[in-house]
Amino acid sequence: MTTTNKTVPANRVFSGMQPTGSLHLGNYLGAMINWIAMQESHECIYCIVDLHAITLWQDPAELRQSIRKVTAAYIASGLDPKKSILFNQSQVPAHAELAWVFNCVARLGWLDRMTQFKDKAGKDKQRASVGLYVYPNLMAADILAYRATHVPVGEDQKQHLELTRDIAQKFNSDYSDGIAALGYNDGFFPLPEPVIQGAGTRVMSLRDGTKKMSKSDPSELSRINISDDADTIAKKIRKAKTDPGDLPSEVAGLDGRPEAQNLVGIFAALSQQSHDDILKDFGGGQFSKLKKELAELAVEKLAPIATEIAKLEADPAEIDRVLADGACRAREIAAPTIDQVKDIVGLLRS
Ligand code: TYM
Repeated sequence: MTTTNKTVPANRVFSGMQPTGSLHLGNYLGAMINWIAMQESHECIYCIVDLHAITLWQDPAELRQSIRKVTAAYIASGLDPKKSILFNQSQVPAHAELAWVFNCVARLGWLDRMTQFKDKAGKDKQRASVGLYVYPNLMAADILAYRATHVPVGEDQKQHLELTRDIAQKFNSDYSDGIAALGYNDGFFPLPEPVIQGAGTRVMSLRDGTKKMSKSDPSELSRINISDDADTIAKKIRKAKTDPGDLPSEVAGLDGRPEAQNLVGIFAALSQQSHDDILKDFGGGQFSKLKKELAELAVEKLAPIATEIAKLEADPAEIDRVLADGACRAREIAAPTIDQVKDIVGLLRS
């Protein structure tokens, strides 16, 4: 075994989205725009987390379609398969292998605190899949298989990232002797930093400003999908819930007005301006003016993406090729991590 001091990679980004239906404006503003920007400064690995998707029932034919659709959405939004690694999780065995080790590191009490499990399992927990319960361990494995240091996500993933850090820390401490023997003086896994930034880290439902915009909301009017056409986007914004007042001139005036807050936030995120800037233009006026300009802005940003998604989807073989190439590059990075984890834990390998 080598004894030279080894360090963790300094600047590696990992993130992922579930291939369950179309991506929506929350996914785009909360995560995707940061992913695109980080491609310029970091080594980036972006995953379509199909193993996470099956923690809830998925129709197999629809799942296959969704994996390709989300890949097309990644590329159409601006992720470049030459700059970043794009792949679907199930093609890289390291994710499931490391998740098993983490199932043995994480404590039941830690998982019991996860609010997303409570939300997704609903009232009858006994009927939820075991996979849904250990979902956060697989997420930790996704990130740590690449020993990633930065994870750009929306606010709803914060608790999962805290758990990832707890798992990394416990692994580093439980196995500190074996890790040091391999030449790592500062722990084997980094404690990855969540990157939760911008005005769109928590985009809310257009029908209820107190609920997160989500793929699972039964109301189509609650979310804008990035593949919606111009008329649909305009209609959804026109029908977005508001309150009876005019728009305030100052940010403090948005307090207690979740729908106003959400629409101004979406405008700010799409136009890359501050809430203050938006209220300078629209404060004192009616929602209808803001909605009209917001619809134009959303169409301007999203329509080219929708057109490009449709073009890419017409050639599924090319999408599969991008995924196969990405998986091959991902396996090369993740395989040595798994080999070393096996050595550290005391599992024999040939
Ligand atoms: P998922 O598929 O639910 O969402 C993908 C990304 O979009 C963000 N997001 C939002 N941001 C702002 N407002 C919203 N309304 C909104 N809805 C979703 C999410 O925060 C996320 O960044 N568990 C993850 C997927 C995952 C993952 C990972 C992420 C699996 N492994 C490893 C990072 C690293 C999830 O279900 O995201």
